[in-house]
Amino acid sequence: MWKDWVRPFVRPLPQWAPVGVAPASRLVTARLRWDGESVDVTADHTVASLNPLVIATSVDAGERAVLEYRDAAAGQLLGTLRLVRDASMAEPQAAPLSFYRVEAGAHRCLHWPLRAWNAWLQNRSMARHASSAHLNMDPAAAQQLMIAYLCPRPVVLVSVEGAGHRNIFPMDLIGPLERSGLYSLALRSTNVSEPVMREVRRVALSHVPAAMKPVVYKLAAHHKQPPRDWAALPFPVRPSKTFGIPTVAGALRVQELSIVHSQTIGLHTFFVARVVSTEQLADGAQLHHTAGFHQVYRRRRRQPLQDA
Ligand SMILES: Cc1cc2nc3c(=O)[nH]c(=O)nc-3n(C[C@H](O)[C@H](O)[C@H](O)COP(=O)(O)O)c2cc1C
Repeated sequence: MWKDWVRPFVRPLPQWAPVGVAPASRLVTARLRWDGESVDVTADHTVASLNPLVIATSVDAGERAVLEYRDAAAGQLLGTLRLVRDASMAEPQAAPLSFYRVEAGAHRCLHWPLRAWNAWLQNRSMARHASSAHLNMDPAAAQQLMIAYLCPRPVVLVSVEGAGHRNIFPMDLIGPLERSGLYSLALRSTNVSEPVMREVRRVALSHVPAAMKPVVYKLAAHHKQPPRDWAALPFPVRPSKTFGIPTVAGALRVQELSIVHSQTIGLHTFFVARVVSTEQLADGAQLHHTAGFHQVYRRRRRQPLQDA
């Protein structure tokens, strides 16, 4: 229809596309390149903080590196991030990790001139909605963050329980740091459960089906008022395997994490954890986020991801 053709020229693409993806599908691969060396970091890089935009990995890639995202099936380069080591962030003792600031980024999901035009429309929209967007990022960093989402990121519900406090809220700045056997979570330091997580040092992650998107988003909207009790949630819960923390009964997978380290990076608290247990409960499409322009690229190739 003519409207589908005209729309991208007058309206910005959504920054994030909520999609349903089978867990652990490697649709997009990530490779870190530096000084003539290169390693696959598809399961070994996470976002440690949004402002500044920092990537954590268990790979020591020297002072400067490039992170490349490629379509796994076609081999086509989708985007790159230029990284510079940030020595101001001390390497945590419990976790041999490297921190890299994102210096620049580019993607190839849209053809020129739509690529530049869409970035301009997105930046204008972000500036207009700056007070409600909560991202606290400058436009260049927001564009770079979208590139980091070329690898679709799973959305989980994080359950936290401490004395007199319980909460369950969505996160997607999470993931494994494969080579070190660690798992990280980047949480806004203002989150009401942040002090409790530092204290109890344990959480449970429910990897949820794509069909749960509405309820997942609703939990973020009410994040300032944690549930009065677990029974007040709009879905049934079941205790996690070792910690007995209530998790989503209809989850595809539940993981328990023991937090071994936390540090403040910009506006976020970067938690580093070890996986204590993994319960595989069901198969199906899991809720993920990818960049809006990645979904457009896949549509053009007639391989769209399932919209959640
Ligand atoms: C799909 C989704 C993913 C989210 N991922 C994160 C995340 O990774 N880190 C984070 O701090 N907040 C994330 N949020 C927001 C949190 O759920 C929560 O609302 C926020 O941490 C509360 O912080 P505040 O009190 O500073 O607003 C996400 C929200 C949604 C809807």
